Amino acid sequence: MNLEEMSQLYDFSGRTVAITGGAGILGGEMACALVGCGANVAILDRDPSLADRLMDRLGCGPGCAIVVYADVLKRETLFEAEETIRKEFGPVDTLINAAGGNNPKATTSEDLSFFDLPGEAFRFVFDLNIVGTVMPCQVFGQGMADRGEGVILNISSMAAFLPLTRIPAYSAAKAGVSNFTQWLAVHMAQEYALSIRVNAVAPGFFLTAQNRFLLTDEATGELTPRGRTIIEHTPMGRFGDPAELLGTVLWLLSPASAFVTGIVVPVDGGFSAFSGV
Ligand SMILES: NC(=O)c1ccc[n+]([C@@H]2O[C@H](COP(=O)([O-])OP(=O)(O)OC[C@H]3O[C@@H](n4cnc5c(N)ncnc54)[C@H](OP(=O)(O)O)[C@@H]3O)[C@@H](O)[C@H]2O)c1
Repeated sequence: MNLEEMSQLYDFSGRTVAITGGAGILGGEMACALVGCGANVAILDRDPSLADRLMDRLGCGPGCAIVVYADVLKRETLFEAEETIRKEFGPVDTLINAAGGNNPKATTSEDLSFFDLPGEAFRFVFDLNIVGTVMPCQVFGQGMADRGEGVILNISSMAAFLPLTRIPAYSAAKAGVSNFTQWLAVHMAQEYALSIRVNAVAPGFFLTAQNRFLLTDEATGELTPRGRTIIEHTPMGRFGDPAELLGTVLWLLSPASAFVTGIVVPVDGGFSAFSGV
């Protein structure tokens, strides 16, 4: 393969990408990069106005973007979104499941012991991360199975490899996302088409709305003890920048990874490689 062919692997012109949680920090970064690589991108979120902050970047093309309401926990809204995208861009051939996150009510603290964590908070985090990944895979994966091609990218976490303190629901849920990624990769290849691939990225620590309250002090912006521990445990010594996920994301979505399915790639500044000693 020559260099020109190599660079064409990252030309996403004509591809239709749906990103759940696409108005969020990481999903939004992926949406902008994919539009920049020529894709038609549908940003799915339960609050479409969150995507307003992305409009300037999305408008630069060469691909196009639309913002579509969808709640990953309400199947009918996913079907409606699928229909809207199909009418606008054609069938979805690439799905990124970026909706997910933790919740303070499912987080142990000095004021909230493990024994007092409410069942509904646990259920909320499980549902958002697992059901909220499985259901879009059902709704958009069906079309991929019918057409015999497609790519799915899930978002796991460092918490999936070894659980992180204080967030038992999120850790278990993300371990479930990694496990489901492997399961679906095998299922799609064996039951539907060899060219449907399912992978995941496991981001290290990127400061976003969902973890800011754990990693930085709300009043001062200084690192919390937990934030400091993370930095000390990250050989590269800093939080990630969302743009630093893009190389791995584009690789996993592109034909450059045509023989890669069922893997979870850490993008973590070395966090998962470091024993702490
Ligand atoms: N940031 C990190 O360091 C990090 C590390 C590892 C993994 N991750 C994972 O990466 C993914 C993206 O996280 P992020 O940091 O970009 O967080 P984020 O900025 O909070 O983005 C998540 C987006 O999903 C949306 N969302 C929440 N519930 C939804 C639902 N039921 N239906 C549709 N959309 C929904 C959120 O909207 P609302 O704002 O309305 O809730 C938000 O726009 C998550 O799976 C997260 O667990 C993040």
